[in-house]
Amino acid sequence: MMIGLACIAAAAAGAAAQARPAPAAPLDEQQVRARADALLAQMTPDEKAAQIVTQFNMGIPGQEKAIDESVAKGIGSFLFVTDPKETNRLQRITVERSRLHIPLLFGFDVIHGWSTIFPVPIGQAASWDPAMIERNQAIAAAEARSAGIHWAFAPMVDIARDPRWGRIVEGAGEDPYLGSAVAAAQVRGFQGPRIGAPGHIIAGPKHFAGYGAALGGRDYDEVNLSDSELWNVYLPPFKAAVDAGAGNIMAAYMGLNGIPAAGNRWLLTDVLRKQWGFQGWVVSDANGVQSLQTHGFATDQADAAARAIGAGLDMEMAFAGPAFAKLPAAVAAGKVDQAQVDAAVRKVLEAKIRMGLFENPYVDEAGAAQLQRNPAHLEAARIAAERSAVLLRNEGALLPLDRAKLRSVAVIGGLADSPRDSNGPWVFKPTQPVLQSILQGIRTKLGNRTEVKYAPGVIIPKRVNASMIDSMNADLRRPEPKDDDSGIAEAVAAARSADVAVVVVGEPQGMIGEMASRSTFDLPGRQQDLLDAVVATGKPVVVLLLNGRPLDLKGTKAQAILDLWYPGSSGGDAAANLLFGDAVPGGKLPFTWVRNAAQVPLIYAHLTSHDAGHADTRYSNESNAPVYPFGYGLSYSTFAFSNLRLDRPQVAPGGAVTVSVDLRNTGARTADEVAQLYIHQRSGTAARPVRELEGFQRVTLKPGEVRTLTFKLGPQELRYWNAAVRDWVQDETTFDVAVGADSTVPFAGSFDVRRQ
Ligand code: BGC
Repeated sequence: MMIGLACIAAAAAGAAAQARPAPAAPLDEQQVRARADALLAQMTPDEKAAQIVTQFNMGIPGQEKAIDESVAKGIGSFLFVTDPKETNRLQRITVERSRLHIPLLFGFDVIHGWSTIFPVPIGQAASWDPAMIERNQAIAAAEARSAGIHWAFAPMVDIARDPRWGRIVEGAGEDPYLGSAVAAAQVRGFQGPRIGAPGHIIAGPKHFAGYGAALGGRDYDEVNLSDSELWNVYLPPFKAAVDAGAGNIMAAYMGLNGIPAAGNRWLLTDVLRKQWGFQGWVVSDANGVQSLQTHGFATDQADAAARAIGAGLDMEMAFAGPAFAKLPAAVAAGKVDQAQVDAAVRKVLEAKIRMGLFENPYVDEAGAAQLQRNPAHLEAARIAAERSAVLLRNEGALLPLDRAKLRSVAVIGGLADSPRDSNGPWVFKPTQPVLQSILQGIRTKLGNRTEVKYAPGVIIPKRVNASMIDSMNADLRRPEPKDDDSGIAEAVAAARSADVAVVVVGEPQGMIGEMASRSTFDLPGRQQDLLDAVVATGKPVVVLLLNGRPLDLKGTKAQAILDLWYPGSSGGDAAANLLFGDAVPGGKLPFTWVRNAAQVPLIYAHLTSHDAGHADTRYSNESNAPVYPFGYGLSYSTFAFSNLRLDRPQVAPGGAVTVSVDLRNTGARTADEVAQLYIHQRSGTAARPVRELEGFQRVTLKPGEVRTLTFKLGPQELRYWNAAVRDWVQDETTFDVAVGADSTVPFAGSFDVRRQ
């Protein structure tokens, strides 16, 4: 495994180096600024306004002339151009025909891959492996850069505590500590050592801030966050992304305390720039400036533009008719300060200068095609899918299946043979993603020695969300088939005649992501009936899940459940390796797996409030416990934690405690465990959650191997945002400490924070 990873890292670096000609030596900050200012001094008001718009360009026939004209006039940036021929063609127009020859910046939703598709972000977060996530985003960056893309609208670092929200699939789940680690890793992966590093692209963490708290999980809905939640839970991943050097930030659609993010000066200027020292540029979400009027905030489009730029928003992302086109008139009328517009333009020019676009505006089209079919990238995707998988149940050690003893396997479920669904949402046809079905992977692994019988069972309704994502995937726009269970009998027969049934169920990719919130976690269509019927045969059943949120499997009695998320381009191979023991699952849930949608929000890091004597009486009609807790996941091996110890019983505020624990692989296989450190503050100037994750390590241990793991708990881990004083505080108090395999591990030690 280690050799594989090293090769992949080298391949990623090699791929990155090939992506375009070596740039001139990086400029220092003063040189960058001087070049930007020299250009700024020559720009007309209209050119400035155009420079700070990123315009949709979806290659819609009939729009070419208007697009080309906007380029010649000096538009600054496009999104959704994916073909290297087209990025080169448009660059040539701007470089050769526009007055100031300022190259275009191309942005895109590079979310979990370009041509090589990695597991969806929630799946990668389940790997609890930031180093792997960093490598994957470096590969995605190299592939995207080779096509002419300079900037990713990613990572999405929104904390999601309501799985009804479809975009939970795009983030790292419910926890700010895990979310921050994953956010920083993605920024490093996309950008490499510096903005403009060859083969890398600029990261744009989004959606600043709080979008994941949409009321009722309804996409784009209003958000009501307490000060404490905002600072302690929702902002930390953004801060981590900024600290990792993110060159861009995308403002959210919704507002905080009634002030829409795109016009929120407190958020974009006071917090982001003044407190955090963010140096890059802020872009609106799609049409987010125009929609300041929809919010009932701006009076008209000119007012929307003026208030956005005044709040610190630098660039508008828009379809046709950007509100920022009204800026020159607003400046002339004295409604907008010229200096604010100039500051925004300067930041965008600086990004283009840092990216080396003035020296190297074009990409090598042949090189792009080659890079995007690099076998090492597919190998990285396979490892990612294996490391992201979470084993939720394995009764009687059904998994791994013993290939040598199997005569036949029934693979059941329409999603088993649906490579597009295995890739998950935010995958676009124009990027020519590599597709592989789960069935393909199983067939390849088993060859001719074991019979594979495939039965789709039921047709799954392919709800296709109506967003632009699907307008980029025209093949998905087909009529929704009627629910149909006529294939269940065939599936049952296949299961009966096989040694084992592998049932692949979940949500088709169009049912999760943007504009794909759901009010139920039931399996769509008649999949539950299919699963129940196969389980009723009495044959051993392994359930493979394709999902980005918890699903309600109605207490299925299947012996094994393995969550693959949407595993990506090598998902079939990964599934087969996991099923037959050539890979061992080691992922852990990045969210609390609720029983049903009525139970949300339900998080592990909750406050206790009143205790009526029974922990489990928050509902009178059902358990308050989840199906699986945050951090949960099984292995084909077993592990034991012991001997938790602290290097001191007491520490002064600002000091650090070292926690050690011994971890032993008590099973018979080399496997991974994710050691998770939780703390609990017993009392303080504010009440704190019952426990909070403050450290983790994923380690590989051989059978019988013991490793001592150490964690540091310093002020960063022990402080919190206190809403009463509106500042970070560290209380004098006692902390409980636990290290274990999931968020239910009992506390096993404690220490005091006291002034000596
Ligand atoms: C989404 C963003 C995305 C943008 C461009 C918006 O609707 O909210 O996350 O980056 O579209 O695709």
